[in-house]
Amino acid sequence: MRILVTGASGLLGLNLALSAAGQAGGSHLVFGTVKDHALQTSAFTVMQTDLIEPGAVERLLDQTQPDWVIHCAALANVDTCEADPEGARQLNSELPAKLARHVARGGARLVHISTDAVFDGQRGKYSETDLPNPLGVYARTKLEGERLVAEANPEAIIARVNLFGWSLRGTRSLGEFFFYNLSAGKGVRGFTDVFFCPLLANDIAPILLHMLELRLSGLYHVLSRECASKYEFGVRIARRFGLDESLITPSSVAEAGLKAARSPNLTLRTDKLAAALGTPPPDLSTGIDGFYRLYQQGYPQKIRGFEIRE
Ligand SMILES: NC(=O)c1ccc[n+]([C@@H]2O[C@H](COP(=O)([O-])OP(=O)(O)OC[C@H]3O[C@@H](n4cnc5c(N)ncnc54)[C@H](OP(=O)(O)O)[C@@H]3O)[C@@H](O)[C@H]2O)c1
Repeated sequence: MRILVTGASGLLGLNLALSAAGQAGGSHLVFGTVKDHALQTSAFTVMQTDLIEPGAVERLLDQTQPDWVIHCAALANVDTCEADPEGARQLNSELPAKLARHVARGGARLVHISTDAVFDGQRGKYSETDLPNPLGVYARTKLEGERLVAEANPEAIIARVNLFGWSLRGTRSLGEFFFYNLSAGKGVRGFTDVFFCPLLANDIAPILLHMLELRLSGLYHVLSRECASKYEFGVRIARRFGLDESLITPSSVAEAGLKAARSPNLTLRTDKLAAALGTPPPDLSTGIDGFYRLYQQGYPQKIRGFEIRE
């Protein structure tokens, strides 16, 4: 298959592009887009483009002729979204809609990546039929992106994710936050009142490719089947890596003075995904074991070496 991954310098996109290139005995041809980061890797073809520019989406699809498109590019920083609501709207709502329209016209299949944060987190255990209630600009623009994609391309898969993993600069995921701070002997806070169900980024590719093979469409929660507080997640990372878990102070999100509102209970149900795939998504221990294994294999250094710095 010819697979186009947008946002291939991001936490999800990079790991997804690398994993997809390694699946099916390496027979997939993978293209990955970047905007500001300059990447060099032999694993996939890097395409540099600002997808907001007029004509960029059309040009990209024309050049790559994909069978499958996995759209990860986004404005994913919640504080940046609050500061730049128009930029967030363009990237998180307008761009997915445009891509969905053009992909439908060309006959390829689309996975659009969305977020667990469309829910306000007051209740938890949300399923795909529960009504979202986004709290901030990021979540609102992502929910609008979901709506516009479904309207423009009903065949598309819309995958609500949450994830951790190794990123290009080591700063994009909570797993890295705990690992690097604890490794340096630094104390950090871990929220005991914020819950999530993250998958290891590298475990998301096989799931999405399987969903594409099965020709699924519509909304799915693509998350770990097990959820935890951010504090518990940090402790489990510490234990797996043999780091000092007492450096993590249990605390409340209310004490942190964060600018953008965070949804406290983002436990989402994955029954629909499990039923469609015939197997449940991985639990947290499997994800954290994979995160540790990648570390032992030198994966963080390997991906860091992909970036060309001026
Ligand atoms: N990270 C999480 O925990 C999390 C949780 C829930 C959902 N999600 C969703 O998962 C997806 C991926 O998130 P992520 O954390 O991997 O994002 P990320 O690390 O912030 O990466 C964003 C990507 O989008 C690209 N991009 C931004 N503006 C662009 C533009 N104008 N044209 C082309 N590319 C552009 C960036 O390229 P450059 O780096 O080259 O500028 C980068 O590759 C998003 O849809 C996000 O909403 C993420």
